[in-house]
Amino acid sequence: MAGSSEEAPDYGRGVVITDDWPGYDLNLFTYPQHYYGDLEYVLIPHGIVVDRTERLAQDIMKDIGNCDIMVLCVLKGGYKFCADLVEHLKNISRNSDQFVSLKVDFIRLKSYKNVLIVEDVVGTGRTMKALLSSIEKYKPNMIKVASLLVKRRPRSDGFRPDYVGFEIPDRFVVGYALDYNEYFRDLNHICVINEHGKEKYRV
Ligand code: IMP
Ligand code: MG
Repeated sequence: MAGSSEEAPDYGRGVVITDDWPGYDLNLFTYPQHYYGDLEYVLIPHGIVVDRTERLAQDIMKDIGNCDIMVLCVLKGGYKFCADLVEHLKNISRNSDQFVSLKVDFIRLKSYKNVLIVEDVVGTGRTMKALLSSIEKYKPNMIKVASLLVKRRPRSDGFRPDYVGFEIPDRFVVGYALDYNEYFRDLNHICVINEHGKEKYRV
């Protein structure tokens, strides 16, 4: 707005979920019975994850549409986000004058040209930095990173993906393929695990 002193929103941070956000009461949604008692609250309902992913697909198409892209899914936590993102990219490609030719792979070492890395969550950023340096050896023309979630951390080393779905508090989250010791991948919503859940599924 003209004359407004408000800062322009930084869309690069994605949907910002602040530390004081109490989340949604679990009883307002459905979720598998075997996780009753193991979760604190719903951080991001499944529908909002899917809606946000649709917009990320539009942003990605605007930037790197009309070329051949290798979508590189970081297993295992990235599989839901990757599948939904690819579905949206295909829809845009079918229904608009933008197109994209997509190939999908799951982190394997070989030569790549235009790479879109699809990750579930960036915490410290160490995993992504290591992955990027191993892929850079293959000298791709372009590497972009899309992460559904980025944790807000006090001592973040500043790694910022090109596309961010949600910036979240520094809590351990599960659901939508994100796991705790392989559990909770079958939960649709992104939720904060509670102490009981951590104890129950501790290895
Ligand atoms: P980073 O190296 O600290 O950025 O951690 C990234 C990886 O750790 C992700 O790819 C996830 O596999 C895992 N991770 C980090 N935080 C969470 C979480 O809250 N829930 C589930 N997995 C997580
Ligand atoms: Mg991951």
